[in-house]
Amino acid sequence: MTIGSPHDQQVVLEARGITKRFPGVIANNNVSLRLHKGEVLALLGENGAGKSTLMNILYGLYHQDEGEILVNGTPMRASSPHESIQRGIGMVHQHFQLVPVMTVAENVMLGNEITRGGVFLDRRRAAHLIGEISRQYGLEVDPNALIADLPVGAQQRVEIIKALYRNADILILDEPTAVLTPQEADDLVQIMHTLVAQGKSIIFITHKLREVLEIADRIVVLRGGHVVGEALPATSSEANLAAMMVGRDVILRVDKAVAHPGATVLEVRNLRVRDDRGLLAVNGADLDVRAGEILGVAGVQGNGQTELVAAITGLRAKESGSVRVAGQDVSDATPRRISELGVAHIPEDRQREGLVTSYALTDNSVLELYYRQPFASGIIRDEAQVEAHCARLVQDFDVRTPSTHVPVSSLSGGNQQKLIVAREFSQPITLLIAAQPTRGIDVGSIEFVHSQIVKKRDEGVAVLVISAELDEVLALSDRIAVMYHGQIVATVRSGELTRDELGLLMAGAGKVAHEAF
Ligand SMILES: Nc1ncnc2c1ncn2[C@@H]1O[C@H](COP(=O)(O)OP(=O)(O)OP(=O)(O)O)[C@@H](O)[C@H]1O
Ligand SMILES: [Mg+2]
Repeated sequence: MTIGSPHDQQVVLEARGITKRFPGVIANNNVSLRLHKGEVLALLGENGAGKSTLMNILYGLYHQDEGEILVNGTPMRASSPHESIQRGIGMVHQHFQLVPVMTVAENVMLGNEITRGGVFLDRRRAAHLIGEISRQYGLEVDPNALIADLPVGAQQRVEIIKALYRNADILILDEPTAVLTPQEADDLVQIMHTLVAQGKSIIFITHKLREVLEIADRIVVLRGGHVVGEALPATSSEANLAAMMVGRDVILRVDKAVAHPGATVLEVRNLRVRDDRGLLAVNGADLDVRAGEILGVAGVQGNGQTELVAAITGLRAKESGSVRVAGQDVSDATPRRISELGVAHIPEDRQREGLVTSYALTDNSVLELYYRQPFASGIIRDEAQVEAHCARLVQDFDVRTPSTHVPVSSLSGGNQQKLIVAREFSQPITLLIAAQPTRGIDVGSIEFVHSQIVKKRDEGVAVLVISAELDEVLALSDRIAVMYHGQIVATVRSGELTRDELGLLMAGAGKVAHEAF
């Protein structure tokens, strides 16, 4: 797409010999990196490799212990976000920093108000400018919409507009596609193409290798805080990128034998659940999962999957209908009672539902179990037991941390997710509900988590997997249920339908056909 090699082009951002230490960890070890004008540079690496740390240093949120950052050949001085923004660097974090009760325009202007007469926000001028940015780069969004009403993909466009509004020429996107639907991710790829075509430069982090091959001009791989290699998409494959990241060959497929389903463990009947806005997000869903099988729910995000899981696990009230687990009616049961029936839950929002990030790993490793044997007798917690348990989880699931006593907030995103999975798999269970189980996890660890899910199945656990990644649903499931507009519109055996046929059902085509008869 570029004429000549990118190396002939102007270097807009350079990291020279960056080292950053945290207690017990060297997050970046003498890292050097160059970003050229008009290029998409993909940064790859295992969970905990140091990607986010490096980006936070470039954006001025962290200060490096050694090394320097140059923008257009001139060193940065203060290392503060203020200086980075002034020098034309913008960052979109994985957790958006928007105010939900404010409009798009208000959020974009926040902290950068255009004032007239020194007092009032000039909303009209700002709205006009937002409109121009949105047209120029294909960032479709209504400036007057409330953030709370927007889907995730649109919120992300607002974050990008916000950076461009502050005249960013260099954009740092930390795992922007982790929270997007496949369609939204495709849109973002288009937007990135438009941005670089107009002279912007982008550093882009992702764990999805297919995206890297599709969008990157150049790829840099980090491992253990070091740059371990550089690659070009034209001469790379998913397999060799995975091997470069992890340092060994990775099986990108799930190996599993034929399922031998037993008795029905989860039985959902005519379930109706309202979402936060009071709308019926689940509208008459029926579902069965049997012991020893994996049922995958395929669907475009926002078709009621989140509310379905919340209702089954007792986190959200049901409007009507019933849920039974192992023959027991749990329609009105509390999350604790449901968990005591042997139901494990990997929640989709790890920061809100899965962890208390200000607590240590040890506390988080027994979040729902702290009051039970062997972790407590009476009201006394057995610290040695908790400690041993946590150490085992960290070891078995390769959670990268300097110690089990640091707060979970100091773990990298993927390692937080691995800790939840480890905890939920550590108890004897009859039903596993896994929502986006590998979100933010690197390819090597995905392989491991998938094999653990299959192992649970083979031990007789009933498994319900909900994933925005159709590939993940296809790889894991013995049966696939397609969810559309709050209903299960089809349930098929794995392999019965092609990827495209499933895609049509997910888009509601099956329903239309059904109604036509
Ligand atoms: N604020 C912090 N305090 C202590 N340690 C930290 C902090 N931030 C990061 N670390 C450590 O630095 C290392 C690199 O973490 P970083 O978040 O940069 O990884 P990453 O490559 O972004 O991983 P992921 O793919 O999981 O997001 C990890 O070992 C992490 O535990
Ligand atoms: Mg990260």
